[in-house]
Amino acid sequence: MSTPAPEKEVAAKQDGQEEEEQVVNPWEVSAGKGGIDYDKLVDQFGCQRIDAALVDRVARITAAPPHRFLRRGLFFAHRDMSELLDLYERGEKFYLYTGRGPSSEALHLGHLIPFMFTKYLQDVFKVPLVIQLTDDEKFFWKNLSVEECKRLARENAKDIIACGFDIQRTFIFTDFGFVGGKFFENMARIARCVTYNKAVGIFGFSPEDHIGKVSFPPVQAAPSFPSSFPHLFGDNDQLRCLIPCAIDQDPYFRMTRDVAPRLGYQKPSLIESRFFPALQACGENTKMSASDPNSAIYVTDSPKEIKNKINRYAFSGGQDSVELHRKLGGNLDVDVPIKYLNFFLEDDDELERIKTEYKEGRMLTGEVKQRLVTVLSELVARHQRARAQVTEEIVDAFMAVRPLPNMFG
Ligand code: TRP
Repeated sequence: MSTPAPEKEVAAKQDGQEEEEQVVNPWEVSAGKGGIDYDKLVDQFGCQRIDAALVDRVARITAAPPHRFLRRGLFFAHRDMSELLDLYERGEKFYLYTGRGPSSEALHLGHLIPFMFTKYLQDVFKVPLVIQLTDDEKFFWKNLSVEECKRLARENAKDIIACGFDIQRTFIFTDFGFVGGKFFENMARIARCVTYNKAVGIFGFSPEDHIGKVSFPPVQAAPSFPSSFPHLFGDNDQLRCLIPCAIDQDPYFRMTRDVAPRLGYQKPSLIESRFFPALQACGENTKMSASDPNSAIYVTDSPKEIKNKINRYAFSGGQDSVELHRKLGGNLDVDVPIKYLNFFLEDDDELERIKTEYKEGRMLTGEVKQRLVTVLSELVARHQRARAQVTEEIVDAFMAVRPLPNMFG
C-alpha cells in the first residue's frame, strides 16, 4: 500500500484571477464564459470522474437500477467510491452523511436533488444516514438571527423528511441543537490540524471576514467521522462514510480528508453532483438562486405558477419561428426544459424520443415545455402531499438522539 497523497490544495479565489474565470466554493458559484466547466473542476479539485463502469458496478452490487441522476451523469464525480464499494462487497458497511444550510423557507427543486439521491442510496445500500442542518453556518453567512436560523432548520427538516427517509435509519440534527460531547471533541481535533493559512487557501477567507466563518469548517467536517455519533456507532471509529453533495461542498471535504489520517480516522468518500441550472440559464452558467423567485421552481409552487414560470422564463434552445424550427431544430445544449427533463423525467426511452424529435424540429418548444410542466407539477404535488403529513412529532422523532438498532438491516 502506498502512503496516501495529501489532498490537493486549491485556492478558492486567487489574486489577479481573470474576470471571467469560474469560481466554485461553498459560498459562490459563478461560471466563466460558456457555463461551468465541470471537467476543469474535476481536475482542479483532484476528484475522479464517474464513468459507465462505476455506474454498472453500483447497479450490480445493489441489484437495483441506478438512479436516473447516476445514469445520466448528474452525479458525475467522486472520491474513493471504488474503495468504498470494494469494502462493501466484502461485507464492510458504511453510513451516509449529507446536509443543508437552512437559509430559506421554501426549497426549490435544486435543493431536493441531493436528498432524492441520498434516499436512493439509503434504500439500495440499506445503510444509516445522518443529516446535518447547519443553522450556525447560515447565521455566520446570512444576516439572520439565531432564532430565525433555528426556525428555518426545522421547516427545512420537514421538506427533507418528505423525501421519504426511513426513520429507522435516519438521524437529523441541527448544529445549534446537537453540537457538544463527542461531536465537539472531533471538531476540536479537526480544528487543531488546520492552520489559518491553510483555511485561507481552501476557502478564500479574507482579513475582513469575522472569525465565526473561520471557525465553521470543522463543524461541517465532524459528521464525516462516526465517533461524532456515539449514540449511533458506539466506539466504532473506523466505519466508512459516504457523502453525497453538490460539488461546491468539495472544499469542506478536501479539508476533512486531509486531516483524517492524522487523527487515525478513515477519509470519507464522496459522490458529487453538478448544479441544477436556473430557469433562465443560458449554458449552465448559474445555479438556481433562492433569492430570485422567477429563477426557480419551488416545492411550494402551485401548478399554475409552475406552468407560468416554465412558459415564460425557461430558456429555450428552439428557433425564433415555427418555420425555422422545423428546418433547423432545437439546440439541446442550451435548452433548459430539456435539461430539466434530463433531471426529472424517469423514462429513458421517452427522454430519448423527446430529445431526437426536438433536435430534428419535429417537436416544438411549447410541446417540450408542456411535458415538463406535467412532470414537475406531479413531482411538486407529490412532495406537497408528503410534506403535509410531516407533523412536529415526526420532526422530533427524526431528531431524537437515539440508537438506531436496525440501521443496517
Ligand atoms: N454547507 C451546506 C449548505 O450550505 C450544508 C451541509 C452541511 C452539507 N453538511 C453537508 C451539504 C454535507 C452536503 C453534505 O447547504
